[in-house]
Amino acid sequence: MTETDRAAAEPSEHTGPDPAKADLRRVGANPDHWYPVALSRRVRAEQVLAATFAGERIALFRGKSGEVHALEDRCAHRQVPLSMGVVEGETLRCRYHAWAYRGDGRISQIPYLAKGDRRPPRGVRGYPVREAYGLVFVFPGDPRRAAATPLPHLPAFGSPRYRTMTYSRTVRCHYSFMHENLLDMNHQFLHRGVVGRLHPELLGYETDERSVEARYLFTHTGGKRNRSAGLLAAEGIGGGTADVMTIRTDYPYQTLDLVPENADRPAFRLWAAYVPEDAEQRTCRAFGLLMIDKPGIPGLLQVAWPFIRRFTERVFAEDRMAVEAEQRAWDEQGEDRNHEVFPLILDVREVLRRNGVPLRARAACGSASPCEGARLTDDVRGQE
Ligand code: FES
Ligand SMILES: [Fe+2]
Repeated sequence: MTETDRAAAEPSEHTGPDPAKADLRRVGANPDHWYPVALSRRVRAEQVLAATFAGERIALFRGKSGEVHALEDRCAHRQVPLSMGVVEGETLRCRYHAWAYRGDGRISQIPYLAKGDRRPPRGVRGYPVREAYGLVFVFPGDPRRAAATPLPHLPAFGSPRYRTMTYSRTVRCHYSFMHENLLDMNHQFLHRGVVGRLHPELLGYETDERSVEARYLFTHTGGKRNRSAGLLAAEGIGGGTADVMTIRTDYPYQTLDLVPENADRPAFRLWAAYVPEDAEQRTCRAFGLLMIDKPGIPGLLQVAWPFIRRFTERVFAEDRMAVEAEQRAWDEQGEDRNHEVFPLILDVREVLRRNGVPLRARAACGSASPCEGARLTDDVRGQE
């Protein structure tokens, strides 16, 4: 068994809070997963970009080779953000006194240090990083677990049958509100102005340790239906009047597939991740990949693209208004006073609690990785 396998087999040091007691809005996202923190195209060639995960500031930079690296965003010298720095080849040079860092966070050069001068710390924390689906993923948890932890598997992304629309938006709420929002389709009243009157009927749901999957039958019962919604679903692609929607929280991600009546494959598939931005995790960045089946008529999707974008943004804006209002209520009340009645939402709350991490313990541990930082400081290495 390799060290990586052993690390993956051991229980996580980030043990979940007591499910019965924890206020879900105080449960942190488990860092032992791959989280998107930026769109790939935003990390330009030989440029640096500031990103964040749950209060940990991360400097992403793309080296000359094209590879992306992720470092703790503070110089070991005087804590100035490395995201203010300059990329040189495969290193990132701090803007202040020009200490240079390799992609793994080790210091490669301190320009003014003479032989025999006091040795500096080894460097800063380097995060495992990967690019996939047009996103930059980092692994903020135990780096020994990274290799054995899979990235999300999205076969439709690369398929010629689908074209992907990408979203990235900051939402001022705890990530759990986002999971609950998408899984609870009983909120279609909120969207009645955009999509008309939709009747969602729960066909069934399943729950296990780390996932909840719900299936709904959607029927349109009146009102003007948005034409872009029609293109996305039954009217334009499947030709029927009802759609089966399958929504799944598979910790820490979420997916939604919509299969129109009489169709043999989804008209669209959505994959989403809600990545906490601040240490208290009251704000998250929602990344979404909407993979849309190309209709039979050539060029139709191309024409419809901006309308689909506008339609989905309108729906998202309504959802955002609701979940941010929920967060404000939590902030005012200082606790979760919700009276949730829908069984599968109670289930997903359990899943998020069980797989999450205690927020306070993590904050007490320091924002970036104090334990890791201490280890690095002890491991004193000279300038190379
Ligand atoms: S603060 Fe970065 S080199 Fe001095
Ligand atoms: Fe919604």
